[in-house]
Amino acid sequence: MTEGENDGVFPFIEGEIIDLVATNSKWANLIGRWMNDPEVRQYSRNAWPLTIEEIKKWFEPSSDDSLKDFVVFTIYHKKDKRPIGSVGFNHINWLNRNANVFGSIGEKEYWGREIIVEASKLLIKYGFTELNLHKIYAGVFTPNKRSLRAAEKIGFKKEAVLKEEVYVDGEYVDAHKFALLKKDWMEENK
Ligand SMILES: CC(C)(COP(=O)(O)OP(=O)(O)OC[C@H]1O[C@@H](n2cnc3c(N)ncnc32)[C@H](O)[C@@H]1OP(=O)(O)O)[C@@H](O)C(=O)NCCC(=O)NCCS
Repeated sequence: MTEGENDGVFPFIEGEIIDLVATNSKWANLIGRWMNDPEVRQYSRNAWPLTIEEIKKWFEPSSDDSLKDFVVFTIYHKKDKRPIGSVGFNHINWLNRNANVFGSIGEKEYWGREIIVEASKLLIKYGFTELNLHKIYAGVFTPNKRSLRAAEKIGFKKEAVLKEEVYVDGEYVDAHKFALLKKDWMEENK
């Protein structure tokens, strides 16, 4: 038996410090803790409490065979052998071939170690080379300094600033729209 089979963890995309793995239903409580944590949810805009029952429903078989507009991975720390966050695409538009990146590190002791940068770069490569996306975009709100810096390090280019777009912590703040085109990403990664 190879490493990982014991606990049902197998990499879908391999990285150096982390792998991107399929989310496992046994992590429902963990995901619940992350998504309800005041500091973690602050800029993810999880404004409604999320119950474990709701999370468990994500793992129920669906008869919906339409094209997915959403894909999520768990960020799994290879050395520490533990799930620490999530990253994925939502709003995938198969006609225009674009999608939005979301990501969060739920285990706060892993913040500041550039893990979101590695996870996002793996996700972006997957988006361009497997899903055949043309453009990948991301939105960050002004007070989220960590994400603004991470977006630059990932290689996103800023396309627009939407004034007073989002209500965060009692005030309207600007939304910064970042994007990356496949041709520019290929140029950077040849
Ligand atoms: C935002 C988040 C994804 C960043 O992930 P991360 O792996 O910690 O990112 P990094 O390690 O690359 O750190 C990002 C940058 O923020 C900087 N930073 C850390 N704390 C900061 C602070 N309080 N103010 C300003 N910058 C800060 C770091 O110094 C780093 O920049 P540097 O490498 O130039 O020094 C992570 O903190 C998180 O999950 N937060 C909660 C959920 C969330 O906000 N998700 C994003 C929604 S868009």
